[in-house]
Amino acid sequence: MISKNFDKLFVGAREVRLKAHVPYSKFKVGAAFLTEDNSIVVGCNVENAAYPQSQCAEASAIGSLISQGYKKIIEIVVIGSGDKLCSPCGGCRQRLREFSDLNVLIHMCNSSGHLKTSTLGNLLPDSFGPENL
Ligand code: THU
Repeated sequence: MISKNFDKLFVGAREVRLKAHVPYSKFKVGAAFLTEDNSIVVGCNVENAAYPQSQCAEASAIGSLISQGYKKIIEIVVIGSGDKLCSPCGGCRQRLREFSDLNVLIHMCNSSGHLKTSTLGNLLPDSFGPENL
C-alpha cells in the first residue's frame, strides 16, 4: 500500500484518463486529487487544433477542484500513457504549487499501476508560491 488513499485516487485517474481529448498526441493523461474532506476530484488532458491552447490533465483537475469549492490538494495521482514515467510538466508543477503543500505526495503511474512517488517539493525545488509575495 503506497498510501491509504492511493487506490481510490488511482481508480479516479484511470477512469478520467479514458475521457481525454487527445487527437494530436494520442497521449492520454488522467489526474486525481484528494481534497480536504477526502473527496476525489479528477481531470484529463484536453487538446486543441491550435496546439498551444491544449490543457494538461492537472490543469483540468485544478479547474474542477476550484469549481467544486475546494481550496487544497492533499495527495495526487497522475496516470500517463505507455510505460515511461509521466511526471507533471513544469507548468503543472507550478499550478499544483498554488494549492498543495510541498510535502504533498505525487504518485506517477501508468494504467497498470504505480511507477514512482515524489513530493511537490522534490519536483519543484526553491519554488515561488503564494507566501513568497
Ligand atoms: N500532459 C498532461 O496532461 N500532463 C502532464 O503533466 C504531462 C503532459 C499532456 C499534454 C499533452 O496533451 C500530452 O500529455 C502530451 O504532451
